[in-house]
Amino acid sequence: MPPLFDRILQYLPLPRILSPLPDFLWAVSLGLPPILRAIWSNPSLLFQLKRLQQLGQYQFWKVFGPEVDKNAAPVKCQLLPWAEGVVFEIGAGHGHSLKYMTRQQITKYYALEPNTDMWPGLRKAIMEAGLSEEDGSAVLLPYGAGDIDKFVEHLGGENKVDTLVSILVFCSVPNTQQVLPTLCERLLKKGGSLLMYEHCLSPVPSSRLYQRLWTPIWSIVFDGCCLDKDTMTWVNQVKWSDKHVWRKEGEPEWSLFFHGVGRFIL
Ligand SMILES: C[S@@+](CC[C@H](N)C(=O)[O-])C[C@H]1O[C@@H](n2cnc3c(N)ncnc32)[C@H](O)[C@@H]1O
Repeated sequence: MPPLFDRILQYLPLPRILSPLPDFLWAVSLGLPPILRAIWSNPSLLFQLKRLQQLGQYQFWKVFGPEVDKNAAPVKCQLLPWAEGVVFEIGAGHGHSLKYMTRQQITKYYALEPNTDMWPGLRKAIMEAGLSEEDGSAVLLPYGAGDIDKFVEHLGGENKVDTLVSILVFCSVPNTQQVLPTLCERLLKKGGSLLMYEHCLSPVPSSRLYQRLWTPIWSIVFDGCCLDKDTMTWVNQVKWSDKHVWRKEGEPEWSLFFHGVGRFIL
């Protein structure tokens, strides 16, 4: 049973509609000054929207990422210790997931991160986790999740991965509905698992509507992140041999940042 305050909020549309506003304004205020400075020193950036979005996302995540990580720590503590063998993290960001994994269980760690501004933070986390690019135990790849043909060769072919990790990233992946199952089927070994924590389409119809209203403007500021992706449905399109799905504790279903959590075994 959700707390009384949450139950009341469920029936008040305005606070729900406005709930993404503080993060949105914060992201704009953090991202805009460096974006304007970058355009000032290189005006051609005006025509490179993706690059400007990545710059904004980097600035926002540098400040906001540790807070989000702290908030998700209980879920990550349940989920990420399952990472083992060859681990492939999609959209690794600053490597916040690594500290929840057990180094002794990992034979190799691949970090897919198309925004190379994130790489210095990611390299620091890799080092702190006891992994290293020098000895080959960690590999950074500058691709998007949809560029499967480009990065599959770095893995030495298809179905080489024991653990696929996706933390708050499929919201930003174009064409998630097709990319998510394809990634699982082409990367994972038989018996391998996907460890997933993603914000998804809410099960509450009115919240879905608000998520859909926010998404066009939200995705511009947050580097393609959509609030209305039905990731939980799409992950179930894969023929898993077993799965363990649970809810983030204390999170109401009507939340516009409703999360799906699960360990899915191929
Ligand atoms: C909200 S951050 C989460 C980072 C990290 N997973 C974490 O939990 O700290 C989303 C990350 O996904 C990356 N990203 C964006 N589009 C992507 C894509 N198409 N493929 C893979 N990663 C992507 C971003 O650069 C960013 O680092």
